[in-house]
Amino acid sequence: AILILDFGSQVSQLIARRVREAGVYCELVPFSKGEEALARLNPRGVILSGSPASTTEIGSPRAPQALFDSDVPVLGICYGEQTMAAQLGGAVVAGDHREFGRAFIDIAEDCLLFDGLWKAGERHQVWMSHGDRIDRLPPGFRVVATTSGAPFAAIADDERRRYGVQFHPEVVHTPDGARLLANFVRNVAGCTATWSMAGYRAAKVADIRAQVGDGKVICGLSGGVDSAVAAVLIHEAIGDQLTCVFVDHGLMRTGEAEQVVGLFREHYHIPLVHVDAEELFLAGLAGVSDPEAKRKFIGKTFIDVFEAEAKKLGGAKFLAQGTLYPDVIESVSYTGGPSVTIKSHHNVGGLPERMDMALVEPLRELFKDEVRVLGRELGLPEAFVGRHPFPGPGLAIRIPGEVTKEACDTLRKADSIYLDEIRKAGLYDAIWQAFAVLLPVRTVGVMGDGRTYDKVCALRAVTSIDGMTADIYPFDAAFLSAVATRIVNEVPGINRVVYDYTSKPPGTIEWE
Ligand code: XMP
Repeated sequence: AILILDFGSQVSQLIARRVREAGVYCELVPFSKGEEALARLNPRGVILSGSPASTTEIGSPRAPQALFDSDVPVLGICYGEQTMAAQLGGAVVAGDHREFGRAFIDIAEDCLLFDGLWKAGERHQVWMSHGDRIDRLPPGFRVVATTSGAPFAAIADDERRRYGVQFHPEVVHTPDGARLLANFVRNVAGCTATWSMAGYRAAKVADIRAQVGDGKVICGLSGGVDSAVAAVLIHEAIGDQLTCVFVDHGLMRTGEAEQVVGLFREHYHIPLVHVDAEELFLAGLAGVSDPEAKRKFIGKTFIDVFEAEAKKLGGAKFLAQGTLYPDVIESVSYTGGPSVTIKSHHNVGGLPERMDMALVEPLRELFKDEVRVLGRELGLPEAFVGRHPFPGPGLAIRIPGEVTKEACDTLRKADSIYLDEIRKAGLYDAIWQAFAVLLPVRTVGVMGDGRTYDKVCALRAVTSIDGMTADIYPFDAAFLSAVATRIVNEVPGINRVVYDYTSKPPGTIEWE
């Protein structure tokens, strides 16, 4: 196995993902539990992640000394490189200029990490994100690559098999990064490829059985792929000890609620309670326009309704959710400080401490596309597995300002026209997520001979690998104008349509 010590970078889980793609089992563990994990896992290699912290600050996180006392191979990434250098007798200084984004490194010398990939004298694209830099090498290390902002962009101690890179090989913007990580895992650490989704499924089934015993589990279905896959996996593990509860908050898209109910009751024969809570949610959302307030209310109410259902069903000790890793990282900080909360995610942010049910979250380590692979592995219909992600808070976060029943109905109409056109054009699968947003802004228009004063509908479509970063989908103008025409003609209350051209970052995918 490979052990990844997490120092709180926003992209730590991507390292785990790349290691899995190389077919090797790995665990991502907060640095503070590093010593225990080293003893437990006895890993063949350890990767140190990046961090929002600075090694030049007193009290900043460190790798366990036991790691450097052992002869386990190490790869330090960004902060991980710096803390390794500092702990082994080198020096790190606060940089005079930050290096952020795309950079080019010059390969100075060959090394095992670059084997079959990069050669001395070549120049390659990498992705940088750092302020500090190494200033003096620890004994035994040599420099194998440099950039203008980082004279120690890659360092190597071949004898003790310790490597450090200032750039981030785990992100897609370092095109050779995945292969570089695979080099570490296979060539340096000597692991062989055995990890697979079938293996993950079997391991999780065993975990779920061990956690749950003969207890009852309630699974919250949101209507999306994640909670559905979680439910089917849990059902495989414990059969009818599982009851699914579909809290229908009335913030779903056209036809979605019916689809979910059909899939569970008819296709899988999984016990399902369908709770129509539209009125409760809409009443609570009345007058609320702050995005975080909406998210928190919906998350909390969702859990409240659950608790009430759990009581009715009697004796369920566990609550299952389809929480994914991206839901976790933007809300949680391993370093207890610097990692910033971007949004309170539905599954995490609204979870009240008072809840007396334990959580079963079998997808917590997976990214969206991995969940799809697992869904297919479990035999979910392709039309369902291939569905675009849909956020837990639903249409509420696609209606900036106050959410009303009328606004939801208007948005549903516009959204289904948009998706209908996307499907007809054969573009659905090329897009990660496409949806309409209903703005509270009114603008003047003219229809027939009359003046209109109605709302603006924004269209969003992005491509993405994992939802962490995204690019806009470049529709051609004829397509967009056809959609705009249909929406304005067919949806009362909307008289203008705009297209959102913002990538993530700096935008997020959802508007709130
Ligand atoms: P953002 O807007 O943060 O979204 O760029 C990234 C991905 O996450 C989805 N999303 C959510 N999913 N609960 C969820 O289950 C939520 O609260 C939530 N908020 C955003 C979003 O649709 C996109 O796929």
